[in-house]
Amino acid sequence: MLQDNFGRKFEYLRLSITDVCNFSCDYCLPDGYDCSGARDFLSLSEIKTLVTAFAKLGMKKIRITGGEPGLRKDLVDVIRICNNTQGIEQIALTTNGFNLENNIEQWVEAGLTHLNVSADSLDPRLFQAITGHQNLESILRGVDKAISLGLSNVKLNAVLLKTFNLDQIDQYLSWIKNKSVTVRFIELMETGDNKDYFATNHISGEYIKQDLLTKGWTQVIKGKLAGPAQEFCHPDYQGRFGLIMPYSTDFCKTCNRLRIASNGKLHLCLFAEQGIDLRPYLTEDGIEQTCDALLAAMTNKEVGHELAKNFTGATTHLAMLGG
Ligand code: GTP
Ligand code: 5AD
Ligand code: SF4
Repeated sequence: MLQDNFGRKFEYLRLSITDVCNFSCDYCLPDGYDCSGARDFLSLSEIKTLVTAFAKLGMKKIRITGGEPGLRKDLVDVIRICNNTQGIEQIALTTNGFNLENNIEQWVEAGLTHLNVSADSLDPRLFQAITGHQNLESILRGVDKAISLGLSNVKLNAVLLKTFNLDQIDQYLSWIKNKSVTVRFIELMETGDNKDYFATNHISGEYIKQDLLTKGWTQVIKGKLAGPAQEFCHPDYQGRFGLIMPYSTDFCKTCNRLRIASNGKLHLCLFAEQGIDLRPYLTEDGIEQTCDALLAAMTNKEVGHELAKNFTGATTHLAMLGG
């Protein structure tokens, strides 16, 4: 079992399989992905060793992230590896939705159990202004297809942006009236690269929460392997509404997740320093060594991030770590 000095247990791994992304979200990669550097992603064989080691130590849920994980041609094999690993109960994917409608069937066939899709606006023009991409309609069709394939609890993420989508919450609420999707607004997080954008666009989600509570929404109790979102339901709505509020004071208290960057570095927090290189251990017979390295690393996990004090560590943008 992976446990830190504060008694928190870790059963949820966020595994980034590429830092490449084809969108250029204003808060993340405003100029698009910089293709000039060398690409150095974990191979399928390294992923297999890594996932096996984590599972041996009690990991039950793997969320595959990017960049955009759908850009890796072997994503379906990554899902299959997770699915074939004893002990892994949930295989989740966070995607920008690119090509979702064409690929979701094969991902589900390979073993995908949970899907989160990002869409910062339901208005195609505004969506394009924020993300640089035109295909909102296709993304939303992909979401519908995922539901029709039987994926439970499909989620749509929107980053809460003061000057772009704060006034669109009602539009999202109408959208979930008769759709079993959970829409979650995420407070914009400051990273090394987005300081000015953050200053203009960050707003706390707390007042949205208070507003929902006065309008008949009630908070739902979290599932065991759930992430940090607070979710709310309403008798008149088929879908749920959620908020992810990393600036709230007790956000890190219940931290249950660890991260692997696409280059094989273990990050004990989204905003920790450089990361611990696991690559030397990720050989075919390196499972025991990987387990030892993971267990040793756990004592270094800090009590929480210091976002509220503007500490962003080495995290220049979230595409490098999968959020
Ligand atoms: P599920 O409960 O599995 O759906 O997880 P999730 O909501 O964490 O997954 P998703 O990939 O959709 O992430 C949504 C947002 O939550 C992203 O912006 C993440 O960066 C943010 N997030 C998730 N975990 C953490 C965390 O430990 N710290 C911070 N600061 N943000 C997080
Ligand atoms: N703050 C909050 N959320 C962010 N994401 C990317 N960068 C940021 C940021 N700076 C979101 C994406 C996606 C999720 C994985 O992380 O929009 O929904
Ligand atoms: Fe790509 Fe996600 Fe970053 Fe947008 S937020 S640029 S979709 S990695």
